[in-house]
Amino acid sequence: MNKSNHLHHTLRVACLLILLWVAAPVSAWAGDAGIATAHPLATAAARQTLDKGGNAFDAAIAAAAALGVVEPYGSGLGGGGFWLLHRAEDGFETMLDGRESAPAAATRDMYLDAQGEPIAKASLEGPLAAGIPGVPATLDYLAGHYGKLPLRDSLAPAIKLARDGFPLDKAMLGHLQSRQELLRKYPETSRILLPDDKLPEIGQTIRQPELAATLELLAEQGRAGFYQGSFARQMVDAVREAGGIWSLDDLKTYQVKERKPVRGEYRGINITTAAPPSSGGIVLLEMLNILSAYDLPKATEAQRIHWQVESMRRAYRDRAEYLGDPDFVEIPYEKLLSQDYAASLRASIKDDVATSSSTLKPVAESVSGKGENTTHFSILDKDGNRVAATLSINYPFGSGFIPKGTGVLLNNEMDDFSIRPGTPNVYGLVGAEANAIAAGKRMLSSMTPTFLEDDKRIAIIGTPGGSRIITMLLLGTLEFADGGNANRIVNRGRFHHQYLPDSIQYEAEALDAETLLELEGMGHTSSPQENTWGNMQAVILDKHSGAVDAASDGRVIGQALSITQ
Ligand code: GLY
Repeated sequence: MNKSNHLHHTLRVACLLILLWVAAPVSAWAGDAGIATAHPLATAAARQTLDKGGNAFDAAIAAAAALGVVEPYGSGLGGGGFWLLHRAEDGFETMLDGRESAPAAATRDMYLDAQGEPIAKASLEGPLAAGIPGVPATLDYLAGHYGKLPLRDSLAPAIKLARDGFPLDKAMLGHLQSRQELLRKYPETSRILLPDDKLPEIGQTIRQPELAATLELLAEQGRAGFYQGSFARQMVDAVREAGGIWSLDDLKTYQVKERKPVRGEYRGINITTAAPPSSGGIVLLEMLNILSAYDLPKATEAQRIHWQVESMRRAYRDRAEYLGDPDFVEIPYEKLLSQDYAASLRASIKDDVATSSSTLKPVAESVSGKGENTTHFSILDKDGNRVAATLSINYPFGSGFIPKGTGVLLNNEMDDFSIRPGTPNVYGLVGAEANAIAAGKRMLSSMTPTFLEDDKRIAIIGTPGGSRIITMLLLGTLEFADGGNANRIVNRGRFHHQYLPDSIQYEAEALDAETLLELEGMGHTSSPQENTWGNMQAVILDKHSGAVDAASDGRVIGQALSITQ
């Protein structure tokens, strides 16, 4: 090749490279990584796993297992959850459904007395309230199908945290304070979490050697170490002795399911989100579809909130009527996600008058529900693999029950079923037949791990917060649509409406007096909440520069990292 040809060739290659850069699909981009979790020690566990050569899926195993140790009030081996995955090499996206399932001996009326009335706390406390856990099976599944590292490497940080202990923080102390009455009912739980029968102090080391041994068993034997053999027998014996109904077969036959994520579009943003048995994705998209015809940025604050609340009211009503475990009920996906249906709902919204929930087709009565539980983390690795995972044991510290010698705090997720159609659960959510209890069925959830993507950015977001999770995701998505960065998305003020009770719940700082007055003038009722809510985690990738912007909700103690390569 002569000099001039060589120059032309070099220029052509340079142009081609620039073109490829401009048009590069993000999956081919080796850019920054990002982690946002609800606890600095879980963020460190995920970071350590990435540094060891693990991918986002390995880091997710590390974060989930660590959160189960340092946030035992939010999630853990005794619980379940949903994991939204994006694999960079081929763009494949899936949702791992590791939700708890009802034991085979569960029956529709198991929490009702002879008069058909709910038995107080039966679906909330002790092992009868616990579904068959999904987290251990999902950790094993994730490592086997998507990870690069052996499970033992990804679980190593959590094993160390459980064995050597970690300093008690203010978030956990707050939950211990509010749930100590429950924890004291179960000697094994109170021995571990309330050592010397008192509340530990901030900074005191919390050790969980039995949990460390259980994690080691999982690391060495995979799911069989938890769901079969002597460990499974130990759990089943303890559960049955304390009034529960688990069987060895329930554990052995538990399956992680891969579900196709729910997808939609809002003003140029592609949304990939949780599928049933989470209600989150469908309710989120239904609200966004209703809102898509309004010019929200140009509207006044009160007008915008009015439309948003009306969309929440209608989508939460549909949640109660239609949604449940898709392996048991026919879900009208096409209808609920269609623009025509959204338009028909929108037609019933007046621009300046609140709809009374009682005038919508009734589903059931309800009471006010609140709660801070569950956990979420968002992870992006340098190759573009993504995980948004929301995990739970339901109410803080779940059922309160730890089978002796296992260190595994069991969930109280059975309360997420409609224990009697029309009776609200602990979050005030009502349900109908679609979410009635049945053997092997998975209870409806609100957990909403989500990816948002427009032409410039990709966000990985989610949050705990019971019934309020989905409205937090709505507000987060609208903030993203306005160009908000990770910090603005996770820290914006929050309000919520869930059809019943017919009232706008709001964080005290979220709505000003003038806006409240205007909303009242339209006929809305509102109730300021004593506490803030949520613990949103966001990792956002700039598709062209590869830079990462990550933030953890300032309301709690989490930590976000952007890791520059
Ligand atoms: N347990 C909370 C949820 O799944 O929505």
